[in-house]
Amino acid sequence: MAGASVHGHWSGRMAFMFAAIGSAVGLGNIWRFPYVTGTSGGGAFVLIYIACLALVALPILIAEIAIGRKGQKSAVNSFRDVAKGEGRSESWRFVGWLGVIAAFMLLTFYSVIAGWAMSYFADTVMGNLTAISESTSKPRFDALLADPVRLAIWHGIFMGITVFIVARGIQGGLEKAVTFMMPALFAILGFLVIYSAIYGDFVAGFKFMFAVDFSKITGDVVIAAVGQAFFSLSLASGIMATYGAYLPRDINIPRAAVIITIADTGVALLAGLAIFPLVFLHGLAPASGPGLIFVTLPLAFADMTGGMIFGGLFFLLLVFAALTSSISLLEPIVSYLEEHHGWRRSRMAMLAGAGAWAVGLTTVLSFNVLKGFNPLGMFAQFEGKTIFELTDYTVSNIMLPVGGLLIAIFAGWFISKKTLSEELDWHDGVLFEIWRLLLRVVAPIALIVVFYNLISG
Ligand code: PHE
Repeated sequence: MAGASVHGHWSGRMAFMFAAIGSAVGLGNIWRFPYVTGTSGGGAFVLIYIACLALVALPILIAEIAIGRKGQKSAVNSFRDVAKGEGRSESWRFVGWLGVIAAFMLLTFYSVIAGWAMSYFADTVMGNLTAISESTSKPRFDALLADPVRLAIWHGIFMGITVFIVARGIQGGLEKAVTFMMPALFAILGFLVIYSAIYGDFVAGFKFMFAVDFSKITGDVVIAAVGQAFFSLSLASGIMATYGAYLPRDINIPRAAVIITIADTGVALLAGLAIFPLVFLHGLAPASGPGLIFVTLPLAFADMTGGMIFGGLFFLLLVFAALTSSISLLEPIVSYLEEHHGWRRSRMAMLAGAGAWAVGLTTVLSFNVLKGFNPLGMFAQFEGKTIFELTDYTVSNIMLPVGGLLIAIFAGWFISKKTLSEELDWHDGVLFEIWRLLLRVVAPIALIVVFYNLISG
């Protein structure tokens, strides 16, 4: 039972829920979801996204947490031990490896983008953005991206805070941070949505997000929705297995997974409802891409009364959301190192963080010095992609979905029904059978179709 773990445990159910929701809710919800919705056709994308969550991502989330709790170790060793316990090949630990490597690679660029959020937070509260206009907003964002030193410093500050929290351990670090930041995040988001509903063009924003135009559903929209679902739920990155290993026995995993999924989706939708009404009120473009919240929103903040406070709160929300995700990206790596080296946690957190910062410099440089450097440019698919774009593409569109597919196959076909129903404490027939069907058949087929489309692109 729980005693086998070298890591310690969450103090209880709430701590795990805050940590897992904190990992899921991040830049993916507040930065990526609104702009992808904007560029992928609004309501049609939202509909497909929700279908992907329910049919593909949620079943895999349940499996990944269960594998972690059964194994009681870091992702790599939990996959290995669970496979061994089922009389299967130890090579399944490769799935854990894939996750840990994906988490490391993700952390290298996640922290750079979180650095933009910190820089915008600082600028907003210092009043530097109050006089911004259509003609200066984009150049301002471009100037930040063009300055490798500034980017590297913010990236370093963000990574430093991440390391500081992880170094303090599960209960002393991660748990304390999330139990403070998550409620704060919900409060700020609630306030922002109410503000937007009262002062923004709420009807236009709402329509944009929920009116479904079926003609907009294309193969690309489906690919974007699957990728976003995996990214947003932090799936297949070893995190949910790692956090699951710290989970007390008496917690019902399926119920927890449903709540995590609903909270994550709720935050993404609310972020959209906070952002789009302002975008429409000010006659700005909803499909402006990754710059949506950095270029477009500050214009709305500059235009409104109390914009400094509103904008400050918005970027603070973004930083909190990013931090509760970045600590979850560092933890699977530290957890693995903890099992293999006798070093102190703090030293390993520092080492891994420093490594991720250093590798992240390639992302920093991708926006300026190495902007024109396309290392895989000889392949048609990767033409014009910078190192950052290649890393993001490899992790989000390949490693996470492949990892998810392998988890579905492993849990669906290689772990016995008995083990699963015991671990999940799920004995009532129908729902359990539906879950297994989704895991064994629906999710793998959906993912394989997506890969096929990606390759034949
Ligand atoms: N889920 C996080 C977000 O939405 C990103 C993330 C992906 C974090 C994978 C950890 C692992 O921002």
